[in-house]
Amino acid sequence: MKTHHLFLLLLLSTILSCVNPTDSGMTKKKTITSSQITESKASPVRQSQDLNAPNEEEVIIPKEQIKKAKEILAAVTDEELDQLDGKLLFKQNCSICHGIKGNMKINGAKDLTKSKTSLVRGVAQVYFGRNLMTPFRGKLSDAEIVAVSKYAQSLSNN
Ligand code: HEC
Repeated sequence: MKTHHLFLLLLLSTILSCVNPTDSGMTKKKTITSSQITESKASPVRQSQDLNAPNEEEVIIPKEQIKKAKEILAAVTDEELDQLDGKLLFKQNCSICHGIKGNMKINGAKDLTKSKTSLVRGVAQVYFGRNLMTPFRGKLSDAEIVAVSKYAQSLSNN
């Protein structure tokens, strides 16, 4: 009597455990998860790399700042610039962080001898400042900002 029951139970349980998971559970789960994993693993990693790369390499200067820098460059005359000494202005205002030759990187200052930034971006940087670089708006005249930015630019052309 007891052995019959045990056999029946064993048979039932083995049949149930074989039929159910393989037919409905296992096969479906395998196909869904494998495709989901390969897709979800591939795309977010690539996306985050694409998004991070330009942010680390390029410094983003707001459009209004570029616009203002262009206005300054357009307004300042050659006659005004002729009266100014860019090298001296650089020594007085910039060398504390950039060094007299522009290649000292004190407090995260960029090496100006290796800088590839344009004159417009340079003027925007000097006028508005950025991060640890203090703004020179109000401290230097527009003409002085152009003169010193031109000098800073010339450091990377050598
Ligand atoms: C208080 C320190 C400090 C002073 C003073 C300073 N700078 Fe800077 N400068 C920095 C720092 C820090 C950066 C990098 C800013 C950033 O995080 O983008 C920088 C970046 C720059 C850049 C951008 C370079 C690039 O490739 O993007 C230019 C151009 C520049 N400085 C020119 C000047 C000029 C010209 C003066 C003087 C009028 C000056 N700096 C004065 C600290 C300074």
